[in-house]
Amino acid sequence: MGLFARKKRPAVPVDRAVPRHIAVIMDGNGRWARKRGLPRQAGHKVGAETFRTIATYCKDIGVQYFTVYAFSTENWKRPKEEVDALMGLFRTYLKEAAETMFQRGVAVRVLGDLTPLPADIRALIREVDEIADRLGPDAATASLCINYGGRDEIKNAVRAIALEVQRGALAPEDITEDTIGARLYTAHMPDPDLIIRPSGEIRTSNFLLWQSAYAEYYFTDVLWPDFKTRDMDAAIDAYNKRNRRFGGV
Ligand code: FPP
Repeated sequence: MGLFARKKRPAVPVDRAVPRHIAVIMDGNGRWARKRGLPRQAGHKVGAETFRTIATYCKDIGVQYFTVYAFSTENWKRPKEEVDALMGLFRTYLKEAAETMFQRGVAVRVLGDLTPLPADIRALIREVDEIADRLGPDAATASLCINYGGRDEIKNAVRAIALEVQRGALAPEDITEDTIGARLYTAHMPDPDLIIRPSGEIRTSNFLLWQSAYAEYYFTDVLWPDFKTRDMDAAIDAYNKRNRRFGGV
């Protein structure tokens, strides 16, 4: 299957507002595999297919930004074969992206500290980034957070700001929330409106800590490999019933 799933396109509900930016913590792959007596990697493989299907669906219904947590700064602690399998899935996906994203009009981005990734994956990310740049800021964007940690991201932003202050390029009193936001991996995208966590876990796990300040959360027991477009519809319907006040009344 290509970058975005092509078969069995579900009917797109009309007349429905959709969040501009949806983010997902793709959780439950390991449990999905264990229930079937399969290695954890099998769950990640199906999880990657789910990502393709849901990313395609989000684009079709008009969601401009779709961001997923694919590998955290803590995931290196997992067994080597699991880490290798995940890197293999990223490699395959990025190759597909480089070949098809221009024709499909979707900008694929990778967010995170990319320095410890294998050199060939970093080269693929650079390639995909250049294509995304050519697609321009109005293209629908699918972002994979790889070696991403919210605290790590904020620490890196603070370090960059400290260096600018040290050089005399920035005065401490000029540091605003925007100064920090502009130094995060998400600098060029709006904050997520809706963050979905499947698999029954109810925590944020270091995902988009700064950006989630006013996000609506949606939790479901469905394991990520089982997550279907109808589950995305349920999350969006729940979101549309929320009253977002952003601290006002
Ligand atoms: C958490 O579930 C999931 C991950 C650490 C990896 C998520 C990655 C993918 C779905 C593959 C993405 C690939 C592409 C190409 C987008 P878990 O393994 O912790 O599950 P568990 O809590 O049930 O053990």
